[in-house]
Order: sequence, then C-alpha cells, then structure tokens
Amino acid sequence: MNNEQLVRKNGIVIAIDGPAGAGKSTTARLVAKQMGYLYLDTGAMYRAVGLAALQQGVDPDDADGVTALCSALNIAFETRDGQLQTLLNDKNISDAIRSSKISQAASRVAVHPGVRDVLVALQRTMGRDGGIVLEGRDTGTAIFPDAELKIFLVADPAERARRRLRDLEKRGESAKFESLLEEIRIRDIRDRQTQLRRGAWPASDAICVDTTGLSIAEQVDRIVALAHRQNRA
Ligand code: DC
Repeated sequence: MNNEQLVRKNGIVIAIDGPAGAGKSTTARLVAKQMGYLYLDTGAMYRAVGLAALQQGVDPDDADGVTALCSALNIAFETRDGQLQTLLNDKNISDAIRSSKISQAASRVAVHPGVRDVLVALQRTMGRDGGIVLEGRDTGTAIFPDAELKIFLVADPAERARRRLRDLEKRGESAKFESLLEEIRIRDIRDRQTQLRRGAWPASDAICVDTTGLSIAEQVDRIVALAHRQNRA
C-alpha cells in the first residue's frame, strides 16, 4: 500500500463487482447508505451511452461512432427523494435505461475501449476522495485497482434470472424466465470477454460473496462488517 492510498479524505473506496443480476445495485446502494458513503452506479453510465446511441441512430457496435457520441454526452447523477437519478444531458433517464433493450445496448457499447476510457476517467474523478461505493464490472480492476475493499458478488444464473424477472415485473414489464436466462448467459459471455480483454477479472484480491440463497440484509451486513474491518486496518 502506498501513502496516496492512505490519505483518502472521505473514507475508503469500496468496489462491488460481479455478473448481471448478482444483486450489485441493491447491495451497493444499501452498503453506501449504512456507511454514509456516496454510491456510484457505473453500469447506469454504460446504459446512458446505450440509450443515447439508440436515440441518435448510432449503431451500438460502431466503435468510432459510439466513442465520438460518448465524449459529447453529459452524464450526471443526483438524489431525489432518497433515490439516485441518472441524468443524460439534464434529462432524467433513470427508468428508460432499465429495459431489456437498453441492457443489451449497454453491454454492446461497453465493448469499445474508447467508450471505457471516457467513462473510467469520469468515474475515477467522482471517487477520488474516497467515501464511496462503486458498483460495476471493472470497479476493482480498471477504475480503482487500489480500492481498499473489493467485493465480487456471484449467484446461480437461474437465481439471477428470477431476480431480473421480479425487477421487470415490478416495473410493469412482462418477460419470460427462459428468455431472461438466455439474455443473462449472452451478457455474461460478452461482459466477461470485455473485461478479460483489458486484464485479469475479477481482481485477484477481490473477496467473493455468493449471494444465492442470501437475503439482501445478509449480503449488506457481510460487506459492511468487512468495510469496518478495513477502515480500522
Ligand atoms: O450493471 P449493469 O447491468 O447496469 O451494466 C450494464 C452493462 O454495462 C453491462 O452489460 C456491463 C457494462 N458495464 C461495464 O462494462 N462496466 C461497468 N463498470 C459497468 C457496466
């Protein structure tokens, strides 16, 4: 550990990584709340780029087109009524980015190194002073390889598809379990390849937490206990 890591102004950096549907968002949000930390949903930023590409008629697979588009976007977060909202060029897109269509577009735009460079630079700036929980695929590798606590959440694909189904139903979207399971498998393969192309994944010093059969409260308690231990170290 070098000195720079020891002087984060606002607390430690907690990186929560893992495949789609492993419970990263809910867990990260609640861990941040309990620790009094900021919460950064890095996946929402890739989703914002995916949405912008579809809205502006840019093919999500067109590396140069999406990178140019991404550099010109203004992606920001704000809290309203205790809920984190995602803004794209000042427009609230929090609901629009949660559809299955945008999930796939986000996974496709996330493949391009140019897009990742832009978003990773932004994410590093947002977390520079610590006191933050970052959630997303490369949080413990590319964004903050020196994060004081790295968690890798995993869960059975079937359990993850069931959770996705419940989330979509809550939002009034209908879906078939089998299709969601298939989507998760496709995204797992693409997301894993995207990360491996940029180096080892997950981070070798990440602590793996299997959330299959764990309640959200149990997951959160486990991570908060690890964070307090790390804060005392
Ligand atoms: O976590 P999520 O489902 O909201 O992420 C949407 C997509 O963005 C997902 O397919 C993987 C990608 N992603 C990424 O490549 N790196 C991140 N830090 C976060 C998300």
